[in-house]
Amino acid sequence: MKAVTTEVISEVRNRASIVEIVSDVVVLKRTGKTYKGLCPFHNEKTPSFHVNPDRGIFICFGCGEKGDVFAFVQKTKSLGFGEVVRDLAHRFGVQLVETTEDRRDYDRRTLILMLYQQASEYFRRLLRDPSEGLVARDYLNRRGVTEEIIEQFQLGYAPNTWDGLLTYLTSANKVTPETLAEAGLVRHKQETNRHYDLFRHRLMIPIHDDQGRVIAFGGRTLCDDQVKYINSPESPIYIKGDHLFAFHQAKESIKQRDGVIVVEGYFDAITAHQFGYSQTVATLGTALTERQAKLLVRYTESKRVYMCFDADAAGEKAVTRGTQTISQIAEGIGIELKVIRVPGGKDPDECLRGDGENSGAAAFEQALNTAQLLIEYRLDQAVAGIDIKTHTGRIDASRLIVPILADIKNAVGRGEYIRQWSMRLAVKEEDLLFDVGQFRRSSRAAFQSPQDGPARSRAAQKNAPKAGYIEAERTLLALYLMSKDDHQAVQEALNDEKLVQPIHQRIKEAIDGVGKFTTVDDFQYRLMDRLATDAEASKILVDVIMKVEELTRQNSPREVILKEARARILKEIITEGQNKLRALLPTVSLDEEQAQLQSKIIQLKQLETQMLRCAQTDDELADFRRRIDSLLLETIR
Ligand code: UTP
Ligand code: MN
Repeated sequence: MKAVTTEVISEVRNRASIVEIVSDVVVLKRTGKTYKGLCPFHNEKTPSFHVNPDRGIFICFGCGEKGDVFAFVQKTKSLGFGEVVRDLAHRFGVQLVETTEDRRDYDRRTLILMLYQQASEYFRRLLRDPSEGLVARDYLNRRGVTEEIIEQFQLGYAPNTWDGLLTYLTSANKVTPETLAEAGLVRHKQETNRHYDLFRHRLMIPIHDDQGRVIAFGGRTLCDDQVKYINSPESPIYIKGDHLFAFHQAKESIKQRDGVIVVEGYFDAITAHQFGYSQTVATLGTALTERQAKLLVRYTESKRVYMCFDADAAGEKAVTRGTQTISQIAEGIGIELKVIRVPGGKDPDECLRGDGENSGAAAFEQALNTAQLLIEYRLDQAVAGIDIKTHTGRIDASRLIVPILADIKNAVGRGEYIRQWSMRLAVKEEDLLFDVGQFRRSSRAAFQSPQDGPARSRAAQKNAPKAGYIEAERTLLALYLMSKDDHQAVQEALNDEKLVQPIHQRIKEAIDGVGKFTTVDDFQYRLMDRLATDAEASKILVDVIMKVEELTRQNSPREVILKEARARILKEIITEGQNKLRALLPTVSLDEEQAQLQSKIIQLKQLETQMLRCAQTDDELADFRRRIDSLLLETIR
């Protein structure tokens, strides 16, 4: 399925600035011609992630991840190449020519997004309506939600009818009730075969994606309905666990304050914003997913995350169930996770609005300032309620904390907590250390796949390409990108010579296919476009581009670079050929054949010496290559 043409890829690349796109996810700082930030693909404390806007590439010197603007979005949003091009094309207003199937999916999502937008406007209008919206507005007043916050969160009201939204949307657009049902805005009732509104007489809270588009709703009951909140189901535009409530509103503040507060409920987030904690988002009552966690830290340089846990028994239990997963996710992406224990057994909304001894903005602020690291919180929680003054209590407690201590990946940190807790429980440090070690070994064994052993790395080594070729061939490819003169020179020299590494040869063929170009920059972009659908080659191309930068810095004469690279490749071919010939020796039985192989090995050696002594011109080098190739071709099949 070819979804997008090279023209579209090229147009999108021209319009989408890689710095802008990367800045959606990474805080970038300018350093000369390039930008630097913390790599979003691995956990690091000092920035080794670079973006070069002139060349249109990013590269991380820490983990080696690299690519162009498409590769970046693909990696961060885990989308397919076609989807990424389409998304960016849409964002930057590039017209697409695609398959009908793609078009249909895309149109469907666009339509559903528009329906949610219209629904949101409809609900907002009704909330403002003097008679219709009265109950809901009263409710909001009673809860102390200000006009400003109502506007900011675009709150609305779903009327107390069965078909208010249904009628509105079907008359405003050419849509069928079936489409509205697919969008999750109405429901189909089997028995009556009729469609009806999903949200009736509810306070409507829109959920936005990170770009601020409405993608779902939460509807709170205004009477004592059994179901407190009805939420939009998943749809082509909404996947649970991918989004966070209020993230769009919190983005800027998260960046400014370099930290993010996570609460559980809609109203907790809304109230937090009203009280000035505009860096607050909500998970909507479910356990934090890894995708949400990654979204969370997009805008915080220090990756500081505060989770609000209701400090009542029920809340703690519900939350501690998810804490192991949360800590693993956090450690995986380098989050410094702290726990805010909201005082007075309340949720953040009640706490902030309360006026008792343990409530109010000051109490919340205090809880924020004394937030505990999640790991410490988990350890405390594990032994809560156990009397550690008794002998059996101490045994129970140490048994319970072992799995938590074993979770800590960092050995120094783990040792530190083991030391602390051995004192606290008055047990021998080496005993606790032993138990934790034992636990780690047994759980590791349980999770390790047999393929991860040394056998696999040996196999990988065998297939690893030779380093000599790689550097030399990339240098040759880089010459095509240095200047028009260099381009021409290397093209003439290599003419129809094949590069040894198939991937390099693929790039060379793409180079030959580019045709006429104006500047080498223009050439580079056209080459990237041609290779865009070839993920492997695109990656290598980034290395080649980095090589261009390196060669530019070194500033050696082109003739020297070209000659050295080609000679190095020839040497490599000779060495490899000799090795192959030697390996053949024991497999032939006839003396004659043996002699032939020996003679070839010697001839190769002679060629090498000759080459080193006299090969000076491009033609001479090409000639050597032909002689070596033909010598090897006869023997090695
Ligand atoms: P809570 O029951 O703590 O509600 O659920 P809340 O947020 O404090 O709401 P108020 O203050 O009573 O209005 C926390 C979150 O769990 C989800 C919602 O996202 C809610 O905000 N939830 C809860 C549902 O989706 N459905 C429900 O019926 C209840
Ligand atoms: Mn609440």
